[in-house]
Amino acid sequence: MAHHQSDVEETAMSEKELVESLNRALAWELRAIALYSHYSAYVSGIHRLYLADHFNNEVNESVTHAATVRSAIVKLDGTAITERDATPILHTSNYKEMLAEAYETEKKAVETYSEILPLVEKIGDTELFDSLEVVYFDEQRSVEELRMMLKD
Ligand SMILES: [Fe+2]
Ligand SMILES: [Fe+2]
Repeated sequence: MAHHQSDVEETAMSEKELVESLNRALAWELRAIALYSHYSAYVSGIHRLYLADHFNNEVNESVTHAATVRSAIVKLDGTAITERDATPILHTSNYKEMLAEAYETEKKAVETYSEILPLVEKIGDTELFDSLEVVYFDEQRSVEELRMMLKD
């Protein structure tokens, strides 16, 4: 009985920890939405022709990711945050600076989701695991794409 009770407590602890890391991911997605919207508006020079669309697609992807993370928090009976991560967004119209900032942002996203996945595995929810793994792979693809875009 005592053993059973500690299992229950352990699960509650894991879920609390998971909701906290999901909220960090959500805050980071909300920041990504602000960053990419800003860069889509300000990107200048010849690269504006495709980067404005590219950044806009990143806005849409971040909205989708935020929705996935929010649903996960709701499923766990947590409270989703509404504020973006406070890390400042560099204002620039220079596309190389934008890509460098995007690269840092995507690397941080990969790091955040890689912390989340083991916690989801621990609570044994395969549906949540699958949906968040998709997001993790999206972020990894973005990192690789930006690495290539930053090459001369
Ligand atoms: Fe994302
Ligand atoms: Fe991303």
